[in-house]
Amino acid sequence: MSDSDQAHSTAVLRLIGISRTYQVGEVQTEVLRGVDLEIREGEITVVVGASGSGKTTLLNIAGGMDRPTSGQVLFGNTDLARLDDAELTSFRRTSLGFVFQFYNLVPTATALENVRVATDIADDPMDPADALRLVGLAPRMDHFPSQMSGGEQQRVAIARAIAKNPKILFCDEPTGALDSRTGKVVLQLLGRLNRELATTIVVITHNVPISRMAHRIVHISSGVVDRMEVNQSPVSVEEITW
Ligand SMILES: Nc1ncnc2c1ncn2[C@@H]1O[C@H](COP(=O)(O)OP(=O)(O)OP(=O)(O)O)[C@@H](O)[C@H]1O
Ligand SMILES: [Mg+2]
Repeated sequence: MSDSDQAHSTAVLRLIGISRTYQVGEVQTEVLRGVDLEIREGEITVVVGASGSGKTTLLNIAGGMDRPTSGQVLFGNTDLARLDDAELTSFRRTSLGFVFQFYNLVPTATALENVRVATDIADDPMDPADALRLVGLAPRMDHFPSQMSGGEQQRVAIARAIAKNPKILFCDEPTGALDSRTGKVVLQLLGRLNRELATTIVVITHNVPISRMAHRIVHISSGVVDRMEVNQSPVSVEEITW
């Protein structure tokens, strides 16, 4: 283990021996096959892998949206795989943040109301307006999603997720629907939140160059962790092209 590995050595989430099998009709498919993974506090972890390799399945399990067929999902001493549905939903709502490719905003609610949806049910939320200021959208608080660009909508989604002060912010292809310039703005924002708020962030992408911004890079291939790299010198997003 290197020195910089030691510097961030607290694991906030540990996945141990995760497998996930889907059954469709008669056919069983093992989508995850014994994944071990640690998410360290204060780090940006980027999970890369080809389409269909199991990234979203893994994120859904790590974030308590799905359960593994076998294995443990440990937040401290709590195994999410063993919580009942109500406990799991409550943990997810209060403690985790999510950002998706297609924003998932409430179309009939303003930016501020969209953030409030999350802060109303969180344990220790930020002020919703402060969260929007943090993502540079103070002038847009009363705008509806349809009145904003894709990049702006994604920043509202990020404001909504971080306003909960989540233990981990999970992002599944956060730039997938954006052109690369707008995608960079979104990734720069994630980098800044990691630096300024020490938010622990997990980003899933099939864009390998994006992994250069990470402290830790997890390569997934056909449902297994192929390789885990500690990145000694994360690069600022401005220097990345894809
Ligand atoms: N609900 C489901 N039922 C059956 N099979 C599923 C289900 N969800 C995912 N799969 C299968 O699991 C595999 C992994 O899917 P997953 O969505 O995790 O991949 P991914 O790495 O996120 O891909 P992409 O980069 O395209 O988003 C795929 O072969 C997919 O068809
Ligand atoms: Mg996916």
